[in-house]
Amino acid sequence: MRTVPTVKVLHVVGARPNFMKVAPVLAQLRKRGQVRQVLVHTGQHYDAKMSDVFFQDLGMPQPDVHLGVGSGSHAQQTARVMIEVEPVLAREMPEVVVVAGDVNSTVAVALVAAKMGIPIAHIEAGLRSRDWTMPEEINRVLTDRLSDLLFTPSRDGDENLRKEGIDPERVHFVGNVMIDSLHAALPRARESRIRERLELSRQGYALATLHRPANVDDPAALSGLLSALAEVAVSIPVVFPIHPRTRARLPAGFEPRGLKLVEPLGYVDFLALIADARLVMTDSGGIQEETTALGVPCLTLRENTERPVTVETGTNQLVGTDPARAVSAAREVLAGRVRPGRIPELWDGRAAERVADVLLKSGEERR
Ligand code: UD1
Repeated sequence: MRTVPTVKVLHVVGARPNFMKVAPVLAQLRKRGQVRQVLVHTGQHYDAKMSDVFFQDLGMPQPDVHLGVGSGSHAQQTARVMIEVEPVLAREMPEVVVVAGDVNSTVAVALVAAKMGIPIAHIEAGLRSRDWTMPEEINRVLTDRLSDLLFTPSRDGDENLRKEGIDPERVHFVGNVMIDSLHAALPRARESRIRERLELSRQGYALATLHRPANVDDPAALSGLLSALAEVAVSIPVVFPIHPRTRARLPAGFEPRGLKLVEPLGYVDFLALIADARLVMTDSGGIQEETTALGVPCLTLRENTERPVTVETGTNQLVGTDPARAVSAAREVLAGRVRPGRIPELWDGRAAERVADVLLKSGEERR
């Protein structure tokens, strides 16, 4: 009898936005036979609220290896991941390393794996903001250049990669794996009591997040955006779960009436809050996608987005960082003037199945 060889896949997660992208791929590969999986957590995010709760909410197994790199400057963090992951890759020698998104851990692992000759699969490839001041844009471009399999969430990703001269044979339009996680968690989000805990009524609040360095590291930019949120909070309660980077920079004693500052939330509770919000204001990448998937109006407080499909097809509007403009866009939404969105192509909850098909086929071919 011919035995099908086992394919060894090593997944890397590091920061909060990685977890919901990798969880569905892990789960899907677990269902297929002949796959050995190793999960490595770099430890870029380490707080219970930035990491552990996501493992519980997403039903992810505990990492097999934890690199414990923690925070630091870009160079320190990237270098620490590289140094710590190299012996792990040398020991495990997987057929493929799977990295996701655009955080420092993503590019650091890709660089090490490429030099060791280990094939790299990049989940969420091809996104481009064309803003080279964003650390994530540098991470995206370099990771894609180093990757052998590029899984794109939207057609613009294919087009961006083609223009950069990446061999189209390497590029696979699979749809958005984050939406797989969203579909899987939605029944639990419907059961969440977070709205009651925060004393909010359905459609009776706005949800805000801010954590981009360009928005929060510059005190003038941060204070402008906080005053915009405070202004919106005059009309409707605004819930504001605070990222540790942002909390560290808040002016002392800041908490205007109507603004509810809360700790970072877990995945299920946060989805529950998005689903019932009248409006979301954010500078996050992933939240632009989650609001589009749930049909909730989103105002993106940035000058550009690497996720144009959320604007062209979904419910997202790029309003920029001018506080007056953000407030007037919020007033429009609160007055009911919203553009209905549609669900982008292949954001159907089955992206991880397509990723798994490609990974296994290419893993077997390589043996
Ligand atoms: C990182 C990603 C960003 C992503 C974001 C989501 C990079 C370059 N940036 O940004 O793309 O949108 O994660 O959260 O990879 N901190 C804690 N506890 C933690 C983690 C961080 O307190 O568990 C604090 C530390 O003070 C740290 C700061 O937050 O210095 C920033 O963390 P870092 O991982 O450097 O970047 P993020 O801003 O989280």
